Amino acid sequence: MAFEVKDLLWAKDALRGISEQTIETHHDKLYAGYVNKRNEIESLLPGVDRSAANQAYSAYRALKLEETFSADGAILHELYFDILGGPGGAPTGSLADKINADFGSFEAFVEDLTACGMAARGWAVTAYDPSDGKLHNFLCDVHNQGGVWGTVPLMALDTYEHAYFMDYGSDRPAYIQAFFDNVNWDKVQENFDSV
Ligand SMILES: [Fe+2]
Repeated sequence: MAFEVKDLLWAKDALRGISEQTIETHHDKLYAGYVNKRNEIESLLPGVDRSAANQAYSAYRALKLEETFSADGAILHELYFDILGGPGGAPTGSLADKINADFGSFEAFVEDLTACGMAARGWAVTAYDPSDGKLHNFLCDVHNQGGVWGTVPLMALDTYEHAYFMDYGSDRPAYIQAFFDNVNWDKVQENFDSV
């Protein structure tokens, strides 16, 4: 089954501080490109010569490397877009309780995710880890690096320059603030409810 590009849940001009032009490029071209490449790689894998698999270079190795790059690129972007389009502010209910329990306060959580976003070359991802029962902010330098298997991602902050350079130039802190201003905490709560 081919993967499909998911529509945005909100209008492209709905965000505060992140422009329609940025969203159009980010969603329609970059994110859609990962979905299309994921499908292309899946279609090529059945025909590749497995007997020539080699760790230095082989067609099989190249496809398998880019398989996870494209898959994680698509999945992380879908999470990023899904949890935007909201009013920002702060979570309530069980998610707020969990953030307070694991980070000390919502402010401390925002401080940590912001630091993670400033330190990352790709993504800062808040995930629930069933192995210790806690929330963690993970740093990913590329789509298919930095994730911890078995954890459930709840929200993703894209820190690639394409996410903000048109709107903020090199001012990444201003973009991260705009990200928090547009978070839909009800969506993050839905993701937390699923763990
Ligand atoms: Fe992105």
